[in-house]
Amino acid sequence: MLSGKNILLGVTGSIAAYKSAFLVRLLVKAGAHVKVVMTPVSKEFISSLTLSTLSKNPVYSEFVANAQGEWNSHVDLGLWADVMIIAPATASTISKMAHGLCDNLLVAVYLSTRSNVFLAPAMDLDMYQHPSTKENLKKLQSFGNRIIPPDNGELASGLSGEGRMAEPEAIVKFLSEHFKKKASLNGKKALVSAGPTYEAIDPVRFIGNHSSGKMGFAIAEELAKQGAEVTLVCGPNSISTKNNSIKRIDVVSSDEMYDQCIKYSRNSDITVMTAAVADFKSKVKAKEKIKKEKKTISSIEVVPTKDILSELGKRKNGSMLVGFALETENGIENAKKKLHNKNLDFIVLNTLSDKTGFTHDTNKITIIDKKSTRKLELMSKENCAKEIVNEIIRKVK
Ligand code: CTP
Repeated sequence: MLSGKNILLGVTGSIAAYKSAFLVRLLVKAGAHVKVVMTPVSKEFISSLTLSTLSKNPVYSEFVANAQGEWNSHVDLGLWADVMIIAPATASTISKMAHGLCDNLLVAVYLSTRSNVFLAPAMDLDMYQHPSTKENLKKLQSFGNRIIPPDNGELASGLSGEGRMAEPEAIVKFLSEHFKKKASLNGKKALVSAGPTYEAIDPVRFIGNHSSGKMGFAIAEELAKQGAEVTLVCGPNSISTKNNSIKRIDVVSSDEMYDQCIKYSRNSDITVMTAAVADFKSKVKAKEKIKKEKKTISSIEVVPTKDILSELGKRKNGSMLVGFALETENGIENAKKKLHNKNLDFIVLNTLSDKTGFTHDTNKITIIDKKSTRKLELMSKENCAKEIVNEIIRKVK
C-alpha cells in the first residue's frame, strides 16, 4: 500500500529519534518516497546524514537552505506529501502543533500540508499523562490528526509506563492500513494479462511478437496502488514487479495463458487483457529441432489460438472486462467492433507510430465505451495506466 507514496517524516528531539532511522528504512523498502524534516534539537539525537542516506533525499531542518539565502519551501514540502508522520513527536512539538506556534520548519510544514497527519508520541510517562499533553493531543485529534498510541514499557528515564514511541513496524502497519482504507479499489480482485505469447514450432523456434509487457505491468502496478488484489498473468518478458502484493504467474504459450486467465477470472471483479496473444499457432509442434538441411519447408500449417478475451466476455458475470486493440487502419471503427463482439465494458485503442507501440515507454491511447470515445495525448505508459485505472474506478463505483 505504501509503494509510490510520498511520505514526509517529521523527527523531533527525543531519544526515540534513533528509531526514525529504522522507520525510514522500512518505508523505503515498502516502495515509498521519503523526505525528512527535523527540528534543530532532534539533530542532537540522530544525524541528518543518517536520515538523508537512508531516505535517499536531502533532509530539511532550517528555513534558510544555504548561504545564498535560498529557502526550504515549507509550502512545497507540505504539498508534496501524501501523508505526514511525526515520529517521534515530543510534548513540545505536540504543544506547538496544537497552538500553531510556528517557530521551526517542521511546524511550518505541518501548518502548510493538506495531507493527513499522523503523530507517534514519545515522552516520559508523567509527561504523557499530564493534562496539558492530553488536552493538546485531544485538540490535534479534533483537527483530524491521527495519534499512533505509544507503547507501555521501559522508558529512557528508567521508569516504566506508557510513553515509548510505537515500534517502526507498527507505524508502517498503521500507515498501510490508512492507505488501504482510502484506496478506491480496496477489496476488489483484479486480473491483468501482459506481454506476448510464444507458440512453439519446434523445441527452439516459435511464433511470437515484439510485445514488451510494459503497458500490462504498469496497469497491474496502478491497480495494486489503488488497493486491488492483483493477479498478473504474463508471457515472456524481462520486467520485475515493483509492488510485492502482485501475484505474478509466468506463462509461455496462449494455451497456458488461456488456462490461467480462465482460472483467475472466476473470482475477479476486474479483468484487463493487455496481452498481445499470438493469433496463430503451429498446428503441429515438431518433437525435434527442424534441421536446416531440409533447405526449404514448403509450409508451416498454422491454426488460430483461442481468443481469451472473447471467452472471458462470454463468461462475464457482473464483473468488469477491459480489452485492448492494436490497429493500423480504421482504428476506432475496428475497436468499436471488438468492444461489441467481445462484450467489453471498454476498450483501449493503441496506435503504432515512431513513439508508440510495443518497445516504447510512451503510448497514445483512445478509451472507447458504448457511449463515448476519448482520445488522449501521447504520454508515458505509467500515465496511460493511471488514465485506464481511473476509468475503471469511475465505472466500478
Ligand atoms: N486477445 C485475446 N486472445 C487472443 C487474441 C487477442 O485475449 N487470442 C485479446 C488481447 O489481449 C486484446 C484484444 O483481444 O485485449 C484484442 O487483440 P487484438 O490483437 O487487437 O485483436 P484480435 O482480436 O486478435 O483481432 P485482429 O488481430 O484480427 O485485429
